[in-house]
Amino acid sequence: MTFPVYTDHDELSKEEFKEIKEKCFEGTREYSYSPYSKFRVGAAILADNGEYFIGANIENASYGAAICAERSAIVQANMHRNKKFKAIAISSDSKEPISPCGICRQVIREFGPKLPVFMFASDGSFKKMYLNDLLPFSFGPENLGINP
Ligand code: THU
Repeated sequence: MTFPVYTDHDELSKEEFKEIKEKCFEGTREYSYSPYSKFRVGAAILADNGEYFIGANIENASYGAAICAERSAIVQANMHRNKKFKAIAISSDSKEPISPCGICRQVIREFGPKLPVFMFASDGSFKKMYLNDLLPFSFGPENLGINP
């Protein structure tokens, strides 16, 4: 089985790519609250209107209440009235790029069924996959007859 993994950033200009990368590492390094796992994760999402929103994992003493970086970025964007996006990026301190967990894939899917997902390793190298490849045959608003 081969997975559709890419190493380009064709959807974004050079500046946008640089910015989304910086912002997601800012999420990792400045905003992650991860005293339990000590695994810092950041995310950044670029809205269609050019605005960036940062997310970070926010953990909890009741472990299951933790929220991932990707979801926190999407919530942040929504709170600023942004629901249409060009790309999302994820970073951590890990040497290998990390990919969104299953719950985050579903949440990203709501607002970007084909969104490019940039996954950064700590050295700045990255892999890109599309959400529909990360979450094939997914469930969404259309299945409920809704076109939000
Ligand atoms: N985490 C994220 O924030 N995003 C992911 O895609 C994977 C996992 C967080 C959740 C938890 O705070 C920590 O990483 C360890 O699982």
